[in-house]
Amino acid sequence: MKKVYLETYGCQMNVSDSERVSTVLARDGFEMTEDQDSADVVIINTCSVREKAEQKLYTQVGRIRHSAGQKPVVGVMGCIAQLEGDTLFEKINGVDFVLGTRAVGRVSNAVDAALSGYSGYSDVGEREDGYDWTVADTHRHSPYVAFLPIIEGCNKFCTYCIVPFSRGRERSLPAAEIVRQVNELREGGVSEVHLIGQNVNSYRPNTNAGLEGFEGKSSFSKLLRAVAATGIERIKFTTSFPRDFCDDIVDAIEQNENLCNWVHLPVQSGSDRVLRLMKRGHTIDKYKSKIDRIKSSTRDISLTTDIIVGFPGETEADFLDTIDLFEYCEFDSAYIFKYSPRPGTPAFDMHDTVSSAEKTLRFLELEKVQKRIRESRIQRYLKRTLKVLVEGRSSRTADGLTGHSTCHKVVNFRGPESVLGQIVDVQITELKTNSLFGEVYL
Ligand code: 5AD
Ligand code: SF4
Repeated sequence: MKKVYLETYGCQMNVSDSERVSTVLARDGFEMTEDQDSADVVIINTCSVREKAEQKLYTQVGRIRHSAGQKPVVGVMGCIAQLEGDTLFEKINGVDFVLGTRAVGRVSNAVDAALSGYSGYSDVGEREDGYDWTVADTHRHSPYVAFLPIIEGCNKFCTYCIVPFSRGRERSLPAAEIVRQVNELREGGVSEVHLIGQNVNSYRPNTNAGLEGFEGKSSFSKLLRAVAATGIERIKFTTSFPRDFCDDIVDAIEQNENLCNWVHLPVQSGSDRVLRLMKRGHTIDKYKSKIDRIKSSTRDISLTTDIIVGFPGETEADFLDTIDLFEYCEFDSAYIFKYSPRPGTPAFDMHDTVSSAEKTLRFLELEKVQKRIRESRIQRYLKRTLKVLVEGRSSRTADGLTGHSTCHKVVNFRGPESVLGQIVDVQITELKTNSLFGEVYL
């Protein structure tokens, strides 16, 4: 049996694709291994959203080429594979096959070709008819939490972003298929499902392809309600796109306990001028009104965002608007990125006016603001009891356990292994930088 080692970078969509690749390879007679050194095949699932993410591929292939002993065949999948196609063979020495983002179902053909000695196999085609999205239990990143892609691709073309090019146009899975899969996962012991998509709330299935009535404006909140009705214990969804984030989504959360109290709503900039340059399709006022609805909810919804500093043309005044927005929204956490020019995107041709040093200064400044906000926001959890899905052992202590709350905070506590996979009550006793610590009630 040939052994395959799979390394995954990037977003949850990549994690999900890797799970599917493992499922397919195991079905076709390969053995998945955690040990890279003994692998016959190494597959790298790549991300190209920022230059830093892209750099990891070069480092990893270089390491394999210079390692001692038997060399494995090397395959590249994911966003870089899709964007580069055949040109990757010229760019990086030591790559044997290239598999695009919609070709994951055909991974075995690529591996077979490479193992038989052909170093030039490339498949960046569309998904085959009847592409099977299911993942075998044994190949999921967690036995208790499942990622379920409900929409792939992106039609938004924000000027900085490579995703519309690496992931193609938006395609939504039929609602009936999603509900079927959630039921199957629930029956198989999964407690939490994450509905995922680059713009998950832009979900819009074809009229005739799903359950009745899922077409139209509020398709996503209708889907949320249908998934909630399966009775699965917890449902999370990410990433939401502001323009398509309507009040009916918050209504659905309020009316269904199993829809978790966490919304990830990337804003990208606090300046209307920069948002226009980014072609985001929303204004700060519109964004704030969505935040107001979330904050006034009867559920205590945890709010997170993504932000880019140093976009071409971003002035000091624009940056100060971003700080103002952070003060207004009081995000529970924020992923802050320095703008990274991506070849092929419209912004790549804009004049990159913000120096690297200035980007770093803005990054650090915003990080400082957000740290203060986070520390103040997190206080509300102290002494509170949160429902935590116990997902694994935490490495620090022998009886340490770890999981996530419904508001998607990491919660660590001490307890017996027998609660793994269960949802338990944990009273928060300590606030750490990136997590909460507490005592379990059994
Ligand atoms: N430079 C910096 N950050 C980017 N992101 C997307 N494209 C870029 C880029 N070119 C960030 C956005 C997005 C997150 C996944 O990555 O904030 O929401
Ligand atoms: Fe990275 Fe975007 Fe591709 Fe995800 S979809 S792996 S974030 S480039």
